[in-house]
Amino acid sequence: MSRPRFRSSFVLACGLAVTLVGRLAACAPEPDAPAPTPAASATPAPTPEAAPTPTPAEPEFDRAAHSLDDPASIWVVSNKLRPLSPADWAPSDLDMPVDVENEFAQPLREPAARAAEALIGAAAEAGHTVRIISAYRDYATQVSLYGRYVERDGQDAADTYSARPGHSEHQTGLVIDLDDFGDCYLSACFGETPAGAWLGEHAAAHGFVVRYPAGKETVTGFTPEPWHFRYVGPELAQEMQRTGVATLEEFFGLPAAPGYAAAEG
Ligand code: DAL
Ligand code: ZN
Repeated sequence: MSRPRFRSSFVLACGLAVTLVGRLAACAPEPDAPAPTPAASATPAPTPEAAPTPTPAEPEFDRAAHSLDDPASIWVVSNKLRPLSPADWAPSDLDMPVDVENEFAQPLREPAARAAEALIGAAAEAGHTVRIISAYRDYATQVSLYGRYVERDGQDAADTYSARPGHSEHQTGLVIDLDDFGDCYLSACFGETPAGAWLGEHAAAHGFVVRYPAGKETVTGFTPEPWHFRYVGPELAQEMQRTGVATLEEFFGLPAAPGYAAAEG
């Protein structure tokens, strides 16, 4: 063992240095000598509490991410009090959904077309055969459709289920009406069919919301339409599903729109 030998020769050398030079400074402590204990360390320093691991905060949903007024926005809110502006606005990115049944071969805006294909494809995988029975309708088409309903049922009745021209979401190119080839074509019972119930549950994953839900007639102004799916994008659709807020009006704090403004009458 060389250590004790080194230690004794070091002590000897120190002693000699002190004797000869008369200076203690020559005797530096051995490299591994324990450091002198500071007086303060007599009381052990408190162990710092382990900081709790911060849970990353859920990013707040950005309700201002898209315009609610611009007809080209995927969040545009059109209702009886919020006409599209201009009233005859038309999308510039219409595209035909592919590989889906489309009764009147109506197009959709490109993102809605892709999302409709995905939703209908997912429904098929889940065992539900679903087709599009209405999609984009331009201003002129809504003029003639609404006019026919008014002629048939009178304006008061027509206003409960058909939007006046310039107010229809179909004119945004973001809407699909769906059907399952069953007995509930454009009927309230569609929501209770296996296909309708599946769509109501899974539409949000593909960016669609049931725009005219049951029990919200005084908010949306329309009788329930469990077949009418509005594309708003998966972020908003899933946030509405997560929070249980059923209508765009309520989600964005917009006034309920049970009827048209007097000027529209
Ligand atoms: N049926 C819906 C309300 C429309 O006409 O756009
Ligand atoms: Zn519709």
